[in-house]
Amino acid sequence: MSKNLDQNGGRGDASQILWAGRFEEKPEARAFAFQASIGVDRRLAQDDIRLSRVHAAMLGKQGIIPAGTAAALDSELERIAGELESGSLTIDLSAEDIHSFIEAILTRRLGDQGRMVHAGRSRNDQVVTDFRLYLKRVVPELRAALASAGGALLDQAEKHAASVMPGYTHLQRAQPVTLGHHLTAWCAALERDCQRFASALERLDECPLGSGALAGSGLPLDREEVARSLGFREPALNAMDAVADRDFALELASACAITMTHLSRFCEDVVIWASEEFKFIELAESWSTGSSIMPQKKNPDFAELIRGKAGRTTGNLMTLLTLLKALPYAYDKDLQEDKEALFDSLDTTALCLAMFQGMMTAAAFNVERMKAACIGGFLEATDAAEYLVRRGLPFRRAHETAALLVRDCIAAGQRSLIQRSLEEFKSRSELFEADIYEALSPAACVQARHLPGGPAPEEVLRQVGILRERFREA
Ligand code: ARG
Repeated sequence: MSKNLDQNGGRGDASQILWAGRFEEKPEARAFAFQASIGVDRRLAQDDIRLSRVHAAMLGKQGIIPAGTAAALDSELERIAGELESGSLTIDLSAEDIHSFIEAILTRRLGDQGRMVHAGRSRNDQVVTDFRLYLKRVVPELRAALASAGGALLDQAEKHAASVMPGYTHLQRAQPVTLGHHLTAWCAALERDCQRFASALERLDECPLGSGALAGSGLPLDREEVARSLGFREPALNAMDAVADRDFALELASACAITMTHLSRFCEDVVIWASEEFKFIELAESWSTGSSIMPQKKNPDFAELIRGKAGRTTGNLMTLLTLLKALPYAYDKDLQEDKEALFDSLDTTALCLAMFQGMMTAAAFNVERMKAACIGGFLEATDAAEYLVRRGLPFRRAHETAALLVRDCIAAGQRSLIQRSLEEFKSRSELFEADIYEALSPAACVQARHLPGGPAPEEVLRQVGILRERFREA
């Protein structure tokens, strides 16, 4: 049996339905609930009220509604905002969406004056303006969270500018680097993320309001004034584009997915470093979890969960791309799905950044272990080759000579080139002198690579300074 909504109050109050006039039949309750979005867009309440206050003021100024009505709408909207803030008014989750809910309250309280607020607008331009206003509020907070996490990592990079550790390619020991170099690499990625969010914000800084459903309005709206009052750079150029476009959601979902992909990679390093085999990092007990069966366990769950949550943000980006693919112009109800996906991406990214920062700030690095791991695996082989290049040997010959030395070591059961005698070095190349031993120490290998971008301590500090500056400007 189908249940239809009652015209006079009760759950899903049909008198609140903005489009009920067209229909003789009342909407079926579960169908109405299916298409409602208030559970998701309720978080746009304050943005929706801000928008309506600016819109009503403009309608009054333009003589589209009486000045007294504009004033009454403004003070009632201000009151509603306060009541929602204090909790004396709660959002009715049986309403269709946040726009209907607020308009219904205005009408209940102000009668026909409330019925004037929607002149010259559609929920299509309203919702996308609310959404942009929300993003203009929230994305800067996310950028601040990025700068904060980046800053905390830079503190550790600075502290460990000279702590040598193995650098890896293919997860095989490659060349000695510094921990500062590794952590600064992460920060460089976070700083680009910060820029990505900023550039998306720049492009979304256009005000759709005044676009109506798709074709603007015949009423003498002042779009410039509305855009300015709402803090947008300018009104959106084309009304149809303004209601159909969700590029800003794609760009931000993409920025979130990229940031989370970065965090997932950092966390993978952390998980590896926390293993008994590596033991490069000691996670704080307060940022670890145990096992219900294995009494000894101390697990890097936070790093794992952040790594796992990257999947959500990738999924949300796919959701949005799929949502938009082949969607006919202009507005379609499909677009209502945009907010849930992007809200989840923004929430997830903000939460994970905070967790990552907390976990990393409380962690300690086992610098002795890292230093010891620079011996074994012949990380100094490239430096041996460069030693020969500095003495005039063509690089390809130098590479071959160092490779033969590595083979000599392996055959002799040695773990490092410095275990060879000078005679053994010389048997491979007369260019080797006694200073080869000093040149191949991990600290010397790292110190030699002080080019811009390199892992040498003073170069790490230079990079840290530049990134700090960029995060400060963010
Ligand atoms: N709740 C809707 C959304 O989020 C508002 C716009 C509804 N417009 C419409 N023509 N049904 O997209």
